[in-house]
Amino acid sequence: MSAIAYPQERPGLSDRYSPSWFRDLVRGDHVHRDVYTDPEIFRREMRLLFGRTWILVGHESQLPDPKSWFTARVGDQTIIVAREPETGRPVAMYNRCAHRGATVCVGRQGQSHRLVCPYHGWAFDHGGALAAVPYEKGYPEALDRSAYSLRRVARLEGYRGFLFANLSADGPGLMDFLGHMSTCIDDLVDRSPTGEVELVGPPLSHHYRANWKMSFENLNDTLHPGFAHAASVVAARAVESVVGEGNLVPSVGMMKANGKPIGFFEELPMVTTPWGHSYIGGHMGASYTGSTQSAYFQQLAAFHGEEKAKRVLAQDRHLMLLYPSATWHARYQTVRLVLPIAVDRTEVVGFVFRLKGAPEETFRNALEYCNGANSAFSPVISDDLEIYERCQVGNLQGDAEWVPMYRGIHQRAEDPETGRRSPATSEEYVRNQFAAWARLMGEPA
Ligand code: FES
Ligand SMILES: [Fe+2]
Repeated sequence: MSAIAYPQERPGLSDRYSPSWFRDLVRGDHVHRDVYTDPEIFRREMRLLFGRTWILVGHESQLPDPKSWFTARVGDQTIIVAREPETGRPVAMYNRCAHRGATVCVGRQGQSHRLVCPYHGWAFDHGGALAAVPYEKGYPEALDRSAYSLRRVARLEGYRGFLFANLSADGPGLMDFLGHMSTCIDDLVDRSPTGEVELVGPPLSHHYRANWKMSFENLNDTLHPGFAHAASVVAARAVESVVGEGNLVPSVGMMKANGKPIGFFEELPMVTTPWGHSYIGGHMGASYTGSTQSAYFQQLAAFHGEEKAKRVLAQDRHLMLLYPSATWHARYQTVRLVLPIAVDRTEVVGFVFRLKGAPEETFRNALEYCNGANSAFSPVISDDLEIYERCQVGNLQGDAEWVPMYRGIHQRAEDPETGRRSPATSEEYVRNQFAAWARLMGEPA
């Protein structure tokens, strides 16, 4: 194998912030550390990465009736999603009053007859049309209400109930953007014996003081758990010695599985697909107790047929990454949104879905996994957050400007069905994210 050169050249300062300068920050197997720390790069990410790709914003079950609405973030924009009165179809609008720009809806979700601005009381219907203006005689008679609707987001599309927004009218359609990754959404929804899932309860949220990309670069990294999560591996083994083998709740099972040897992870597949998406094979093993497993299988077989039910239950993917907005665990019906706040501030929001009609244990497991894997008290998450913050601080130290991401570069293989395959120990998924990043960030603004 030929030696991999460590790049010494910094992109020319004279071109700083030109499209080619942004492209130059990614050099195949290295990335410039400024991508984590420069506020100007962050601002451009909001426009070109979050403003021009499909961002997961929520699920149709958050809109159970015509009065429902929910808010979501797309990069640095906040939007309202509600059902258009004429069609009942979900639509997305910027959360900005058409009068003087006040935020109209606050909170994650609600139900109301109208969307009413708290400043001067302008009221919009759930499609964004201006429906009522208090003290109307104070405004010119010829006021054209249709010019003062809430502005619609360019595109909102759904796939199997999951809603994705795109602030740009140009670029690939949702299904082209998802490509093979649509099978990760299938993986979650197909686990329902009625074909329906619903988002349940308020989400879990935590913040960290580092760049949003740290999350995406960590979640398919199978080399770090043996080091960063070593303490929880020891604790999980101690718990198992008390409760007995096979009796661990899912999140503790995950902690124990993190201690498997590197050779095990090398045998797991990693799949990377265009636009920066990826997933790795599962490492946690069985999901349910015996009686639930058999009742659940019967339900699934009645809905899908036996063959498909077997395939659905055998599917084992761990942490699917829908770049740049969401991470996914289909087996435990958990979806996380990664929400950038500033170049060094990020919020992560975890949602749990109920498989409608499935045994209650499937939901209890999902809740337990989401709590153990997403909440701020999770021993695993707290390790990761500390690592992100160390990387954020470390990337501001000294004069070594380039971050290598070449692990496994010699081990990848093209796969016509999925994109590219690598061992799960590879950093191919990071290279894949930055290939998409450079492509989008290098476009004219
Ligand atoms: S800013 Fe909304 S009604 Fe005035
Ligand atoms: Fe981790």
